[in-house]
Parts: sequence; structure tokens; C-alpha cells
Amino acid sequence: MATTKAIKTIGVLTSGGDAPGMNAAIRAVTRSAIFNGFKVKGIYRGYKGLVNNEIVDFKTYHVSNIIHHGGTILKTARCSEFKTAEGRQQAYKNLKKNGIDALVVIGGDGTLSGAKQFASEYDIPIVGLPGTIDNDLYGTDHTIGYDTALNTIMWCVDRIRDTAASHERLFFIEVMGREAGFLALNGALACGAEAAIIPEISIEQDQLAELIQNGFRESKGSAIVLVAESPVTGGAMGLAERVRKEYPQYDVRVTILGHLQRGGSPTAMDRILASRMGAAAIDALLEGQRNIMIGDDDERIVYVPFSKAIRQNKPIDRDLLETLKRLSL
Ligand code: F6P
Repeated sequence: MATTKAIKTIGVLTSGGDAPGMNAAIRAVTRSAIFNGFKVKGIYRGYKGLVNNEIVDFKTYHVSNIIHHGGTILKTARCSEFKTAEGRQQAYKNLKKNGIDALVVIGGDGTLSGAKQFASEYDIPIVGLPGTIDNDLYGTDHTIGYDTALNTIMWCVDRIRDTAASHERLFFIEVMGREAGFLALNGALACGAEAAIIPEISIEQDQLAELIQNGFRESKGSAIVLVAESPVTGGAMGLAERVRKEYPQYDVRVTILGHLQRGGSPTAMDRILASRMGAAAIDALLEGQRNIMIGDDDERIVYVPFSKAIRQNKPIDRDLLETLKRLSL
């Protein structure tokens, strides 16, 4: 096993879907590593760059003036080669070639699953940072990028509300989240929406039928429903199609927010979270930790084993659904 003493050079990469705050995380990892006497190498395009040897020396100036930018200066990719044993072998060879003794990977479920697999085959300490707008990683209250995406959703829905109210329409607004409903549920609360249709609940009950049967308050005229993208919810298009057939009295429209939600300057919350987590990743390596994700539990930094972080069932707070229902009366 590589020991902390053996670590001289740390590689940092971002992988999977980008998230606002990734740059703040890259900055924190780089500066904190250099502060502690490590060398840093930036790996471009995530695991793809590791396989293809797109690796450069990183100095403090490489991460100047990036904290406020969305996206990732290291670029990102979804890499099929890294899913193969040959791809991972090539990646390990490139780590050795570049003298990299430890890795910090920033990304979501796919990134951490890749890290877990790699760490089980090769002797390389890896620390993960949760970077995804989806907030679907277990063991952390918040992921980097989630707060910014929520604010973007709020900005967009506030504008849709104006036209929805004027035309007295029912709007289904689809938000991202992969298989999770965090963006839809908390987005709905932040926007004062009538409801959130999320996979965690749709799987148990017909949320659309319940919503329509409960009826919307007459004085409202219009209604806004946030829908989590997922085959389980049917997506905004699927739900609108159903309403047109089953409840033709409603004038229904659809907006899919899509990749808008992934861009933009990170909020203060995301910049602070990314900075704390980036610094904590280096502390973790100094303490001899490996194969863990940095999490945030009630404002405290915690270490979450990869196997726990990628569990599929991070629970949503069901009380929030009840609150949403009450407030939409
Ligand atoms: O995981 C982040 C995310 O934005 C999900 O919410 C979404 O399902 C997916 O990535 C979209 O991926 P892509 O950008 O590859 O289309």
C-alpha cells in the first residue's frame, strides 16, 4: 500500500457532467496541495485524459481567476475506455509515467464508481469530491453545483410564472436530476410551485392523478409543476400528453430547462462548499485516507467510503413534499 509519506505529486481531474463550483474545487485542491508541499498535475478531460495522457504541471497561477466561473477549466468527459480493464491499465501507466502518487477526482456517481473500481485494482490513494448538480450522492447533505442549479431553476421558473398566470395555463417544467428528485422538490419549494413530481414517489403512486383530483385552487387559474427527468415520472412531455388526453379542460404547456441548469457562475454556497471540500481532500490524503468521498454533514466535513457514496437510495425528505402540498393550497 502507498503510504502518505510516499505521496509527492497529486493529480486532479473533473469527470462526468460539469457542475458550477468545480473550478472553485480545482483551485482549492491545487492551492491547498501546494501549500502542503505537494506537486500538482492537472489531468484534462477526466478519465479520458488519464487514458490519453493529457496531463500538465499545475502551479498556483493555473487556478487564478477561476473561482467565479461555471464549467471546469480541466474540461470533462464521459469515458467508455475507462470502463474497460485495458483502459484502466493504460490510465495507471500514465499515472506512473507522470509521477502521480495520489488522485483527487471531482464528479458524480459515475466518477466515484470509476474511482472505486480503479482503486480496487491499482495501488493509488484516491479522494473524491461530490461534484454534481443532482445532489444524489449518499453521505453528503449537499453536492458542489446543486445550490447554483437550484438558483438557476428558480430564476427560470419565476419568468415562466408570469406567462403561466397571464394565460391561466398549467405548466410542466422539467428539471434534471438523473434518477433523483432533489432539484425538482427543492426547486418547487423555492419557486412556490403547486407540486413536484419526482421518481422517489412516482414509483409508489400516480402523482399526476392525485394532483388533478385534488384540484387547483380556483382563484389561482394557473399552476406550475416541477417534474424530475426520469422514465419513472414520465417526464414533462409524458405528463402533458396524459393531461391532454385525460383532463382536456387544462391548457397545458411544457418547458424543459435542460443544460441551462448546468451553467453559470457558482453561488456563494457552492464556492464555499467547493473551497472547504477541496482543502479537506488534501487534509484527508495527509491523514492517510484513501478511497473516500469528502462529504458535508450538518456543516461538518466527513469522510464517506466510495461504496456508501454511490448507493442508489439517498433519501429525499418526505416532509418537504407535505410542506409543498400545504403551501400550494
Ligand atoms: O448528472 C448530471 C446531469 O446533468 C443529470 O442531471 C443529467 O441526467 C445528465 O447529467 C445529462 O448528461 P449529459 O450532459 O451527458 O447529457
